[in-house]
Amino acid sequence: MCGIVGYVGQRPAQGVVVEGLRRLEYRGYDSAGIALVADGELVTRKRAGKLANLEKAIADDPLPESTTAVGHTRWATHGAPNDVNAHPHLGHAGRVALVHNGIIENFHALRAALESDGHQLLSETDTETVAHLLELQVASGVDLTTAMQRVCQRLDGAFTLVAVDAHDPDRVVAARRNSPLVVGLGEGENFLGSDVAAFIEHTREALELGQDQVVTISREGVEVTGFDGTPAAAKRFHVDWDLSAAEKDGHDWFMRKEIFEQPRAVADSLLGRHSRTGQLQLDEMRLSDQELRDIDKIIIIACGTSFYAGMVAKYAIEHWCRVPVEVELASEFRYRDPILDYSTLVVAISQSGETADTLQAIRHARSQRSKVLAICNTNGSTIPRESDAVIYTHAGPEIGVASTKGFLTQLVACYLLALYLAQVKGTRFGDEIAEVMEQLEGMPAHIERVLADAESVYALARSHVDTRSVLFLGRHAGYPVALEGALKLKELAYLHAEGFAAGELKHGPIALVEDGMPVLCVVPPEGRDQLHDKMVSGIQEVRARGARTICLAEEGDTSIEPYADDLVRLPRVPVLLQPLVAVVPLQLFACELASAMGHDVDQPRNLAKSVTVE
Ligand code: F6R
Repeated sequence: MCGIVGYVGQRPAQGVVVEGLRRLEYRGYDSAGIALVADGELVTRKRAGKLANLEKAIADDPLPESTTAVGHTRWATHGAPNDVNAHPHLGHAGRVALVHNGIIENFHALRAALESDGHQLLSETDTETVAHLLELQVASGVDLTTAMQRVCQRLDGAFTLVAVDAHDPDRVVAARRNSPLVVGLGEGENFLGSDVAAFIEHTREALELGQDQVVTISREGVEVTGFDGTPAAAKRFHVDWDLSAAEKDGHDWFMRKEIFEQPRAVADSLLGRHSRTGQLQLDEMRLSDQELRDIDKIIIIACGTSFYAGMVAKYAIEHWCRVPVEVELASEFRYRDPILDYSTLVVAISQSGETADTLQAIRHARSQRSKVLAICNTNGSTIPRESDAVIYTHAGPEIGVASTKGFLTQLVACYLLALYLAQVKGTRFGDEIAEVMEQLEGMPAHIERVLADAESVYALARSHVDTRSVLFLGRHAGYPVALEGALKLKELAYLHAEGFAAGELKHGPIALVEDGMPVLCVVPPEGRDQLHDKMVSGIQEVRARGARTICLAEEGDTSIEPYADDLVRLPRVPVLLQPLVAVVPLQLFACELASAMGHDVDQPRNLAKSVTVE
């Protein structure tokens, strides 16, 4: 998400910053901008669209020479991707320029306070609010470093901020909390970047900043403090990756990088969802409480991985809200003459926001007077634009063709929607909703733990390079996980892979089981509605017919041990939230197996990231 570059040194800063932005293009973006300091003034250029648009703007109206600048490529979160919302943003008198990556959760309150003091904000972004706050500080006489420390103490959320002050051209000041920022160390010059790709052609010496730190770079050196101003240490490292590895944060594939980004992506998707009174709030929910109370049926439409997220949503919404939910493949939906009216809510789930099947389905639903709510990762894309409401997932750009963090953040958005409906319809008490929110907020740490065990999943995957056919079994919320695990293996490893509801096996699919066939089993948490025990019976049935079982079961579940040829442990989480941890080993398995088979993991054959034809 968003690319950030900062520079202070001896060379023309424009070239260093624009080149740095080009190196960060792989992160995905929808606008770009630069601000540099010249003769005590800030000069900015910013444009919606690709870097070429910014370069044209600079060619049409050249920038003055300067050796201090910041630049940004923006992936829209608050506000549409246009020239005004593009970064950098300026303070009220144009003295401070700021670029930002992340989400300031409490910006509504901060913005309202500024506006009541007479500040006029030009954009819809959370960033501009912070630019105004920084400028108020430097105007009161403190330096930009102190200003940054003070302002950061007032911010909630996850952010990387990089600022320059027109009256102090020899420093660039940055801060980070839960969002990436690295410092590049040069001779008589220093750099800031979202990752090392931003400056790798100038220096390979870098500093990794800690949480809640402010860093000031100048030609002479680098100073790091905490938000409270006390000196702090940052970890020095030497970059020995080539540029292509640097873009992937040292991983071999974008997909693998995106799998490891999931704890952050899930945390980002949960940010800013509480109001000051503790109520759940969805900013982009443009349907009134009354409209939501009138809903008596929900139809979820989506394709592929997004469809499986919809299947999990059905379990959550029906359980928490007691509203009937149908889940339908978008490509089938409008051709079966579905029964729709104003009391049906259609939920369209799409990572890209451009999938033609889903788009046509929502157009049909709206023509029948149904309200459409989109769950989407791409701000400004067609599906949210044509919907009545939208919940954005904050996964950041997904580059690997196979969806990973897109899926996990869709699940988060589905849980949020279910809880929000429960709040509005009064089907759950406030403390029950708060308890689930707390469990959701604990999920990034659980996902981290699953990822920490990646090596053992990789070893398992590599032992299957000669496999031709794999089955996946699950029950309840684990059933869509089994389907998703099978889809990942089909699209990446080109293997025959099928997912089944474990209870359905005996009605036919068990005939497929042969001696030695790997069967991956998603075991539900113990102790709920016999679900776990029924799954164990299913596992016994396939094992009795010669299958090699690989069981994904929660820590402490010893009852599964006699029936598992291999065991992958999952953290103990509630059954409805288990997909958030259970799908991760399946993603790792598919990625590693495909890689070991010599396939291009990021660009599987015959597939496109965004399917814009029906
Ligand atoms: C699978 C995958 C696809 C997409 C599907 C829908 O890894 O990525 O199955 O999920 O094409 O795409 P979106 O969510 O963009 O509508």
